Amino acid sequence: DTYQFYLFENFWCPSIHFQAVNNFKKEFQAKDTDFVVASFPKSGTIWLKAITFSIVNSQQFSSLEDHHPLLSSNPHELVPFFEFIFGGDDIHSQILCLSNMAEPRIFGTHTPFPSLPVSIKESNCKIVYICRNPFDNFVSAWNYFNKIKPTTVSELTLDEAFELYCNGIMEYGPWWSHMLGYWEESIARPDKVLFLKYDHLKEDTNFHVKSVAKFLGCPFTEEEENNGVIENIIKLCSFEKMKDLEVNRSGTYGKGGIEKKNFFPKGESGDWVNYFSPSMTEKLSKIVEEKLSESGLSFKMCS
Ligand code: A3P
Repeated sequence: DTYQFYLFENFWCPSIHFQAVNNFKKEFQAKDTDFVVASFPKSGTIWLKAITFSIVNSQQFSSLEDHHPLLSSNPHELVPFFEFIFGGDDIHSQILCLSNMAEPRIFGTHTPFPSLPVSIKESNCKIVYICRNPFDNFVSAWNYFNKIKPTTVSELTLDEAFELYCNGIMEYGPWWSHMLGYWEESIARPDKVLFLKYDHLKEDTNFHVKSVAKFLGCPFTEEEENNGVIENIIKLCSFEKMKDLEVNRSGTYGKGGIEKKNFFPKGESGDWVNYFSPSMTEKLSKIVEEKLSESGLSFKMCS
């Protein structure tokens, strides 16, 4: 049961998702009302899914605080990954389910922008993308992938994993191409793709929750702002709150049987300093500079 990658359309597609990515690309029909939460793995996907879900459903659930779906379901269940939806045996019944889903539909994906289905690119559906500074992203990925055996290859030392990361070898990587694909699209079509960084979301959650809501076409009214709707969303989606919910503490998610608690290890910016040697810092800084500087995409390091 080894975990391999295929180099597919210039990215490292995990073998277990290969069929799904292909089916998704061929079969998915986007609707103009769809929302897609896209991310590079270990960049805050689950957080952005929770925020997006809460924003989109804020009116429906504002009076139901004790019964909010996020209190009883993991965000990955509320906002399913295309890679999981299209990974089963019976694609056609899945497609039928999708067409019957209540609108607006919200999905998640790790698929790089160029490999998304044409209907996502060409419809008016909206994409919110999140990535994270490569230093924290690497540490988060290393901790995570070493925890979810037996799905992963084999346990990698920090140095081995770092070498792979520097060469862009991680699922859905290279990380720089993944970020740049969505970055460039967000510049070319700012009404199509909203590009977020984990550290920014952490630094000023209020500002970014408002900008996501505006981008998705469901801005908060003055009354909602005055009634603390934004603060409630931030609290509900906070690391402390989500991590402690029973639904996120016990049980597993998906075919791989990933323990849900592994989605909430630390939730901080800047933890990389506890892992990086000076030479690792120098090496990754150089790669970031080399790969990203021309694009204008940069990360302010919190060290
Ligand atoms: P750490 O490994 O640094 O703790 P993803 O959802 O893409 O897999 O990203 C996982 C990272 O997001 C983990 O980082 C996790 O702790 C963090 N995370 C999960 N929920 C969060 C939340 N509500 N707020 C902030 N960070 C969160």
